[in-house]
Amino acid sequence: MSGRYFGFVLLVLFPVELHAQTAAEPCRAPRLVKGFVVPEQETYSHGTVVSYSCDNGHKPAVEGWWATSTCQNGVWSQPPQCIDNNACIPPVIPNAEYTATSDGWHPNKDVIRTKCDKGYEHKDYAATATCINGTWTPLPVCEKREDACDTPPQYPHTVIVNQKYQELFSVDSRVQYECEHGYTIDGTRTNKSVICMGGIWTEGPQCSRQTASSGHGGSGTAVGGAGSSGGGIHTVPVSRCGNPPLVEHAEVVETRDMFVRYQCNNYFDEVGPEEVMCLSDGTWSQLPTCESNHCFVDTDQNRKLLSVGMIFIKYGENMKLECKRHSSWLTEHHAVVQCTNGNLNIGECCSKYNQWSC
Ligand SMILES: *[C@@H]1O[C@H](CO)[C@@H](O)[C@H](O)[C@H]1NC(C)=O
Ligand SMILES: *[C@@H]1O[C@H](CO)[C@@H](O)[C@H](O)[C@H]1NC(C)=O
Repeated sequence: MSGRYFGFVLLVLFPVELHAQTAAEPCRAPRLVKGFVVPEQETYSHGTVVSYSCDNGHKPAVEGWWATSTCQNGVWSQPPQCIDNNACIPPVIPNAEYTATSDGWHPNKDVIRTKCDKGYEHKDYAATATCINGTWTPLPVCEKREDACDTPPQYPHTVIVNQKYQELFSVDSRVQYECEHGYTIDGTRTNKSVICMGGIWTEGPQCSRQTASSGHGGSGTAVGGAGSSGGGIHTVPVSRCGNPPLVEHAEVVETRDMFVRYQCNNYFDEVGPEEVMCLSDGTWSQLPTCESNHCFVDTDQNRKLLSVGMIFIKYGENMKLECKRHSSWLTEHHAVVQCTNGNLNIGECCSKYNQWSC
């Protein structure tokens, strides 16, 4: 009886003691060549912070002329290390990656080749940096690609599923919206995918409450005018007018008792009323129109540009597109494609070495 009780106590105590021991593991003195540590001891308890500095001609392998290191469970975080003044510490390059060295620093004249993260590209094609006498030659910059998309927009009563929040999405990325419980898109579906195309997300969802009778009276402004001037013309349920008329580059996105709502497709701006009503004389109230706000470049049909499908360029903007490869060219060539008030202008094909002549 007492033996069983004792065994139980041991079982409970043992893991606690193990845990306490590992948490308090001390560190041995760091081995530092060409420098010194303060305070100097043989062992350091867990949590101790030491400072170090380096001999003439040397520097810490982290930013600054002195540095600190902390004993954590028997291991030094950022172990003290002194390197030659002409060596370089690993640079921080936002939105890029490169192969790190195993010893945590780069010797003089070392070259690193960077790769931009998805959705980013090298500014001015500069992808490498060289360590010269302790500093990096201008570091490459990774900037947002023009065909990448910002965070997909927020629509009422929606959330994005199966995707962590991020600020940038590369071209062709697909994310899925899901409606809040009790809301649907056109009374049937509860989800919708959108795709990043040419820097713009395709049309997002309209989630509305799932009720049989909407009871929406309509805004009635256009109708009131028609009614008073036309003498006796008033709005009637949209079912009396039959199918809503087709509007080029637009879709009916909502049908209520008293109105239907149109929305222009991507790359078009809506002009005129969004909501259209059925009038008692059997006609529809004024329809919206959709005006293009983008130039379209069909690279598959273009003799100069590399075939990558349809590209959309917003009014007033330009984009650098890759040219079809030519056997005499040593490097990629690009052309600047401009969209000015709907007119497309495709510039000369230039390599990165002859940009000044274009
Ligand atoms: C780097 O250091 C060497 C030797 O001190 C010197 O000859 C060279 O000019 C320096 N290079 C630059 C770019 O400062
Ligand atoms: C999207 O919704 C439809 C019907 O509402 C459902 O059948 C489908 O599984 C959903 N898709 C995903 C990926 O959840």
